[in-house]
Amino acid sequence: MLDKAKELLQEAEEFVSDIADEVDEFRIKYLSKKGGLITELFKDFKNVPNEQKKEFGQVLNELKNKVLDKVNFLNEKIKSKDTVKIGLDLTLSGDAKDFGSRHPISIVRNEIIEIFTRLGFTISEGPEIEDDLHVFSALNFPPEHPARDMQDTFFIEKNPDILLRTHTSSVQVRVMDNQKPPIRTISPGRVFRNEAISARAHCIFHQIEGLYIDKNVSFADLKQTLEYFAKELFGQNSKIRLRPSYFPFTEPSAEVDVSCSLCGGKGCNVCKYTGWLEILGCGMVDPNVLEANNIDSNKYTGFAFGMGIERITMLKYGIKDLRLFFENDLRFLKQFQ
Ligand code: PHE
Repeated sequence: MLDKAKELLQEAEEFVSDIADEVDEFRIKYLSKKGGLITELFKDFKNVPNEQKKEFGQVLNELKNKVLDKVNFLNEKIKSKDTVKIGLDLTLSGDAKDFGSRHPISIVRNEIIEIFTRLGFTISEGPEIEDDLHVFSALNFPPEHPARDMQDTFFIEKNPDILLRTHTSSVQVRVMDNQKPPIRTISPGRVFRNEAISARAHCIFHQIEGLYIDKNVSFADLKQTLEYFAKELFGQNSKIRLRPSYFPFTEPSAEVDVSCSLCGGKGCNVCKYTGWLEILGCGMVDPNVLEANNIDSNKYTGFAFGMGIERITMLKYGIKDLRLFFENDLRFLKQFQ
């Protein structure tokens, strides 16, 4: 009996664990009121020969204290380890959240979208990988026509041509496919052109193009719409002017300048001392485009316009290098909180 108790004492002394469940098992094994090893030994006390009773009692007490101490010690250790693991210190002050900011291109895109939705334009989107029909043919670019060179195209496959869209006018072809006039929509999105990257050009950029087709849509409607747009975006004192231009899909076509918002039209290095900044291309939808998209050009007329969001953003914020938009340098982006 005495030997058994000494054996248990030895065992208890050697026990180590850093797992809470194991320590609990150990405690129950020794100390449980029902069937615990120590409890059972105490029950056997009466069978111990008298001359051993004293020593037996001492060993049992020692064993009981040892087990209690061990359990407390191991539990403390496990607890302190847990705290370190979670790093939970409720007395520390909280971490400030580092909020991001919107990309300037998103800010200006949203602003432009908002202006046109106020005028009743819907938003339409389409694929970035397109075919020749939607980017060129349905927009009155005849095959082999040199006008296709105006937009240096990234081709993915030849015959039939699969390519990255060079403008979001392709989305408007899809809208004309699926909708009957009146159509009033803008298509924001990424476009791709095979151009050398510089401060003023990139092979990827963003556009918003607009299309309005209905009965009796006139050039005056186009001009009025763009004037409203320019005043909303660049300030109520802004003026616009239209210069004749050429696009295959519009006739007549024009390029639109806005009075320089940085110098108020007096002339500065941003407007190259002209007082004007070019912001977009536009025109009356060529009847050939309407017919190619199954819209009766005797009944309907329309206008279209298209602008680069990078360019507008550069003009609005006085940004000199277009590449900044693609570098995602936080020092640049954080200026647009
Ligand atoms: N699609 C033309 C471009 O990408 C812009 C444009 C749209 C011009 C509509 C006129 C009318 O350059």
